[in-house]
Amino acid sequence: MCGIIARVGDGDAIRKLVSGLENLEYRGYDSAGVAVQNGSGISVYKRSGQVSELKDALVGSVPNGKVGIGHTRWSTHGPPTDENAHPHTSQTDEVAVVHNGIIENYAELKATLSDAGHEFTSDTDTEVIPHLFEYYLEDADDIAEAFRKTVRDLEGSYAVAALVDDVHAIYAARQGSPLILGLDDDEYYLASDVPAFLDHTDDVVYLEDGDVVVVEPNGVTLTDLAGARIDRDVERVDWDPEEAGKGEYDHYMLKEIHTQPNALSNTIEGRIQGDEVHLESFPEGTFDDVEDVHLVACGTSYHAAMYCQQQLADAGIRAQAYRASEYVDANPGPVSGETLVVAVTQSGETADTLGALRQAKEAGAQVVTVTNVVGSTAARTADEALFIRAGPEIGVAATKTFSSQAVTLSLLAIRLAEDVPGASPPDDVATLLDDVYDLPEHVDNVLKTSDARAIAESYIDSQSYFFIGRGLNNAVAKEGALKFKEITYEHAEGFASGELKHGPLALVTPDTPVFTLFDGAGDGKTLKNAEEAQARGAPIVAVASEDHSGVDVADDHLAIPDTHPVWAGLLANVQLQLVSYHAAQLLGRPIDKPRNLAKSVTVE
Ligand code: M6R
Repeated sequence: MCGIIARVGDGDAIRKLVSGLENLEYRGYDSAGVAVQNGSGISVYKRSGQVSELKDALVGSVPNGKVGIGHTRWSTHGPPTDENAHPHTSQTDEVAVVHNGIIENYAELKATLSDAGHEFTSDTDTEVIPHLFEYYLEDADDIAEAFRKTVRDLEGSYAVAALVDDVHAIYAARQGSPLILGLDDDEYYLASDVPAFLDHTDDVVYLEDGDVVVVEPNGVTLTDLAGARIDRDVERVDWDPEEAGKGEYDHYMLKEIHTQPNALSNTIEGRIQGDEVHLESFPEGTFDDVEDVHLVACGTSYHAAMYCQQQLADAGIRAQAYRASEYVDANPGPVSGETLVVAVTQSGETADTLGALRQAKEAGAQVVTVTNVVGSTAARTADEALFIRAGPEIGVAATKTFSSQAVTLSLLAIRLAEDVPGASPPDDVATLLDDVYDLPEHVDNVLKTSDARAIAESYIDSQSYFFIGRGLNNAVAKEGALKFKEITYEHAEGFASGELKHGPLALVTPDTPVFTLFDGAGDGKTLKNAEEAQARGAPIVAVASEDHSGVDVADDHLAIPDTHPVWAGLLANVQLQLVSYHAAQLLGRPIDKPRNLAKSVTVE
């Protein structure tokens, strides 16, 4: 899981490569590097650390070159050192390569190449690629065919881009990792994600697995692995470059928390008519033959899937949320043409989720993805895609996309309840749908009035942080804890409130604040559970509406507006996002780039 970029065109490449890498840094930030082709060899600059360190290293020694490649790394093979940073070069430095993915047969390839006299200088799997390409170039008449031979030998996943000395071209291929071609009037880009080149063009070609592309100043040649020409459609992306920037905010995470009202308005727009849900690809009757639903997802998206599972169960639909990484190995029970598998993934590129999606498809299930990224692998692999329309999310911690996923999935649950035989939407569906229109305004209200900063300050020296909730709020409690641990590095756990007394209560002390979520459904029991923790000395922070009975019992309060229980949890979640953000800021953490993590996890 890394970010790659390549650029061919007039003028100097290096500045554009580095600025593209800055926009890809959410994919990994262990090291960064660039290489340019300038007619007198390939110049490679790389550093461990963030892109800013590469930028510092380039000051005063900026190499020229119209053709170049760049990389920002999340380490899989070998620690984040200068040597392991990409681009990697071949034996004679004739070839330089950047790669995102994992080459599973690198040990065998390395052994063969070592026998042929090649010497390796890094611990990475990637380094075999430039060596292999150089090996095939030795007797080649056709560089593109030597590149295809190289790629045919690779097993695993890759998006790879290569430079060859003295050749004004980029050679690139995709298998299992995203690679997008950007087309401007006089320049071309290749990148792992659109924000890398969105400042220059919004015309893109989403490359498919097995595609090989040669990009030259005067055009692009697209083939399959055997060299047969193929065509792909040019599409226009509708992301605004402004939207992808940090704007007035200190961090992307804070910006993304604050733009939730707008994201939610986009999520909802045109999808509700009266007391009916209208989802673009799913007209009435689409799900008439569905008998059960599997939701597959990871991390925050899994919590959104849990949120949906509960609503499907309430509607009388057999439904189960699975962690995608487990779904592939666990036996999820019979999957048939009557099983609907919903892959929930913000990025649409999470390897575990894609693995589950593909497995379900092969087993004959109907497969839908709920995703944020048009053109993502999930969107193109599933039978249908339902977009959450949250706009680009750059901070590693998922915030606005959770809210938009939960709303999209809630609407999908109603759509399913209308179709699936024996199921029915909630009795109060009209109120529920009416209230969703107020959600953006309610979120705005929370953002303007939140006491999250003061709460974070009060509890900043705690030993551990607990989050509890029941029903839908069980998912929110788990999401609150994930966010907290991810960006503060403090210990945090989310529990179904009734579970506390079955073990975790042993951990409760005056140093373990318990954030207790109330949504107006089953709150009496949750209040009892909070009191049980309070009796053992734990401070209780109620996340509830102003007049909620839990507020009188609690030591502190984070207020949410009154609304339907289905939406209350999402308002509570915004409060918890803010608590995490402020706690991380007080602790001086690198909020947008938490250690050891990356936004898009493209390894299993
Ligand atoms: O792109 P996806 O939604 O598939 O990503 C899944 C998880 O990796 C992701 O939600 C992760 O848990 C978040 N960074 C947590 O904030």
